[in-house]
Amino acid sequence: MVSDPELADRLRKSMADIETRLRDTATDSPDPLISEAAGYLLGAGGKRWRPLLVLLGAQFGDPERASVLDAAVVVELIHAASLYHDDVMDEAPLRHGVPSAHTRWNNKIAILVGDHLVARGATLSLELDETARRAQAEAFERLVRGQVREVAGPRPGQDPVEHYLEVVRDKSASLIALAVRLGGICAGADTATVAALADYGEALGVAFQLSDDVIDIVSGADRAGKVAGTDLRAGVRTLPALLALREGGKLSDVLAAGPIEDAGLRAEALALLRSSAGLAAARAEVSRYAARARSAVRRLPDRPARRVLEPLCELMASRSA
Ligand code: FPP
Ligand code: MG
Repeated sequence: MVSDPELADRLRKSMADIETRLRDTATDSPDPLISEAAGYLLGAGGKRWRPLLVLLGAQFGDPERASVLDAAVVVELIHAASLYHDDVMDEAPLRHGVPSAHTRWNNKIAILVGDHLVARGATLSLELDETARRAQAEAFERLVRGQVREVAGPRPGQDPVEHYLEVVRDKSASLIALAVRLGGICAGADTATVAALADYGEALGVAFQLSDDVIDIVSGADRAGKVAGTDLRAGVRTLPALLALREGGKLSDVLAAGPIEDAGLRAEALALLRSSAGLAAARAEVSRYAARARSAVRRLPDRPARRVLEPLCELMASRSA
């Protein structure tokens, strides 16, 4: 993914530093239970996309500034906290292939440990300058708003597709956009570059979530521990389903019932969705956001990191094609 050897080396070293800092910051509590539970999901895995995006954003300024690593840790702490809370709300049994925190302990511990991670992130963000702290606080607010709106459903009169895209922007794209943007801010990149990084992250984040939605319908086999039709089984209506519902017909009847637990019915719904105009329209939406991310990349100065960010746009479009 990173063809420039010097950049690859720098990123590898910084990612290793971030990993150590992340684990230390999460688990330095005087209370052993907090330390154990806070280190639990971080130790179980995660792709660390957000810290990597902070580092890539920082390549457009001075990436050696100390606050760049602080920012990378802060973003991942918020992300980790949101997963502790999300698994309670979704009653998810697993996270990163291990029992979720509320399964391993209980709901109260899982929520409070999420809060602990937020608190540790808040302390660490004191190392960042005011612009960076403000960006972080605003993104956190958006993340929570996205989750609230998802739980609450569309407002009276609001189009369900519009509502869904709003949730995706706030719940998924906000933190991805924050990551690349904070990298730029903390590395002292100029205002136009920081704006381009933010636009890139926002569009990439939406494309990533929407491509995941498409993959849940089109993938035949297991991927990353997930089986096709997971969203249908959970009764989650993602973009392809919401667009397909506009078409009416048999699919509307099958989807209207909510969670589809019966494997036969789920296979039928998947087959209908796969040949629906809704799926094609959702793919077009992924391409639209990928194109938006690409045009933001073109506003960035020509540095080796640009050649890492650009192919990620193609990846979003191709992974769900
Ligand atoms: C995963 O979504 C969850 C998120 C992207 C963010 C959830 C945000 C919160 C729970 C608010 C956080 C609040 C605090 C105070 C930390 P998903 O369920 O669609 O994806 P999944 O399949 O990974 O669970
Ligand atoms: Mg979830």
